[in-house]
Amino acid sequence: MLEIKDLCVSYGEKTVVNHFHLKLEQGRVCTIAGESGSGKTTVIRAVFGLLAAGGRVTAGDILFEGKSLLSGSKEEWGKLRGMGMSMIFQDTGAMLNPIRTIGSQFVEYIRIHERMPKKQAWEKAVSMLRRMQLPDSERVMKSYVFQLSGGMRQRVGIAMAMTFQPKLLLADEPTSALDTVTQAEIVRQMKDLRKENTSILMVTHNLGVAAFMSDEIILMKDGKITDRGDKEHLLKSENAYTGKLLDAVPVLGGKRYVS
Ligand SMILES: Nc1ncnc2c1ncn2[C@@H]1O[C@H](COP(=O)(O)OP(=O)(O)OP(=O)(O)O)[C@@H](O)[C@H]1O
Ligand SMILES: [Mg+2]
Repeated sequence: MLEIKDLCVSYGEKTVVNHFHLKLEQGRVCTIAGESGSGKTTVIRAVFGLLAAGGRVTAGDILFEGKSLLSGSKEEWGKLRGMGMSMIFQDTGAMLNPIRTIGSQFVEYIRIHERMPKKQAWEKAVSMLRRMQLPDSERVMKSYVFQLSGGMRQRVGIAMAMTFQPKLLLADEPTSALDTVTQAEIVRQMKDLRKENTSILMVTHNLGVAAFMSDEIILMKDGKITDRGDKEHLLKSENAYTGKLLDAVPVLGGKRYVS
């Protein structure tokens, strides 16, 4: 359903993603891991069509359900966002409007994508927040961004992105701001999405999360893919960088998901 072919992305003169490629089937999960600055965020932002200013795709193509996103119009790409694909950003707080309540933004987001009365949209939003283990969801709806903790903000972002069970969920470090117990719960929720046939392309520093969720793990360094495969492949891999990353795996929800 998603195919990335030979993707190269530059910021100014500097190439930060170099010949990245990937095929993601429906309902499958792929995780990109690797050190800071290796190009992970850039890859998924390119798929979403929202590279930071100055970033551009210099080679390759991105196909969504067989259609090139790069050669289609911006409008078509825009329409895909929400129902076709949605994204959980590394910093959800920055995406939300600071002078409007969470509830008014969430209700508006729902009503842009689906015609329904405000009250029903409100209830839908509350139920999504509950699914994300946010206690006191009604209060969260009435809050402003600055009144929420980092972990709460992140869960709001995840709830919004998952509202319409998109065909493709792009997630940039979706759980890194959360404590390990909540992290495990959110990862489980994301995994559940696959039953609805959502494909997930995720970025994480945590190889434990990656191993728990993914059909394929791609490791990047300096914009290039250094290793890829399923959990078993990576555990057996003789690649030195893979070994280094595996040694650094933290514990998630009391379990170390690789080993
Ligand atoms: N807006 C920008 N302008 C210029 N260079 C950028 C911009 N955003 C990212 N870069 C550069 O692109 C490279 C890849 O950045 P990217 O954000 O994709 O890394 P990352 O793997 O997601 O890192 P992290 O784990 O820290 O989030 C880095 O060298 C970074 O400095
Ligand atoms: Mg990043």
